[in-house]
Amino acid sequence: MFVANTLTGSKAEQYQQLLAQARSLMQGEHDRIANAANLSALLFNSLPDLNWAGFYFHDGKELVVGPFQGLPACIRIPLDKGVCGAAASTRETQRVADVHAFPGHIACDSASQSEIVIPLVQNGEMIGVLDIDSPKLARFDADDQLGLEAIALAFIASLSA
Ligand code: SME
Repeated sequence: MFVANTLTGSKAEQYQQLLAQARSLMQGEHDRIANAANLSALLFNSLPDLNWAGFYFHDGKELVVGPFQGLPACIRIPLDKGVCGAAASTRETQRVADVHAFPGHIACDSASQSEIVIPLVQNGEMIGVLDIDSPKLARFDADDQLGLEAIALAFIASLSA
């Protein structure tokens, strides 16, 4: 049975604890769907003020929704659309304080106010993105970005474990 550990200390320390929990959930498992599903559940239930946390995977043409927690979402996102498309095509994390000010933002859940999307690159290939949405403006800061990028890297590493 999974026991959620309360995160304590500074934000950076909390992300260290979350990374350790993520690694332990994925330990010895390389199935992409299994690890993405458990990671979505871990993030959604551990981090405050989220309304969506999950994955989009690249099918060679566009992004297709994968495991997530939150309301049903847009199924396919072209690489030239939305915050997810921007992260996938630039291969750079997109941290958006106000999604309504982001040109081309795709509103899947009208509650979303801010968003962070981390590209997933495995052996030089963009395989998808990790997308996290919040109903609060400017929910994600540089500590969130560093912490979530480390968790995304652990996910990529798990795929070849
Ligand atoms: N808002 C995203 C679309 C995905 S949903 O937030 C789950 C975007 O603009 O790419």
